[in-house]
Amino acid sequence: MPHQPIAIELAYRLVNHGPTVIVSTTDGAQPNACAVAWCAPASREPPRFCLTIGKRHKTFEQLMASGECVLNLPTSEALDALMVCGRRSGHDGDKLSAAGIALEPSTRVCAPRLACCAAWIECKLWGVPEWAEPGPSLVVLQALAAECRPGVLDREGFLDTDRFKTLHHLGGDRFVLPGERLDGGESS
Ligand SMILES: Cc1cc2nc3c(=O)[nH]c(=O)nc-3n(C[C@H](O)[C@H](O)[C@H](O)COP(=O)(O)O)c2cc1C
Repeated sequence: MPHQPIAIELAYRLVNHGPTVIVSTTDGAQPNACAVAWCAPASREPPRFCLTIGKRHKTFEQLMASGECVLNLPTSEALDALMVCGRRSGHDGDKLSAAGIALEPSTRVCAPRLACCAAWIECKLWGVPEWAEPGPSLVVLQALAAECRPGVLDREGFLDTDRFKTLHHLGGDRFVLPGERLDGGESS
């Protein structure tokens, strides 16, 4: 089934509820990816996202050098891939091919997508605030394109968390899945 394009101003809805993402990059020769729990929308229009990512990560190195990445949205079926990306480092070799994690080409960036994920936000690096020094880097990205598997967004453009169970990191090896949906309304 072909992927479904997402209006770029609605891409924030893929991560608005705080799921862990996999950030993929490439240096042109070796693709790489790492798990990032600390990812959030930063602006709807223009569509921006922020990440907190360790400066020693191979993914950070490739992101800084290429100026591009993909935010891949894993669901519960992709937990093993998420843990490979989050527990092994690309500094020690190509963990993606070693673990048999399939890649797909992106539409707007050279960084590949992880085929096992449910949705993808292709981004260019927008800025690295200097005031976030020292420590892990706060990175701001601007989305260029977003797509998902059919049905990931419902007819109203909201993530269907009844069918697509994103992974929410509690710390360590522990996650929770999205639970009951509530619709807020204005009180009369
Ligand atoms: C569930 C999970 C969430 C993580 N979240 C973050 C994060 O938000 N920021 C970060 O810098 N590292 C995070 N990590 C750690 C990196 O993903 C990990 O150090 C990875 O091996 C780096 O790979 P690389 O050197 O190939 O880039 C997380 C790891 C796991 C397992």
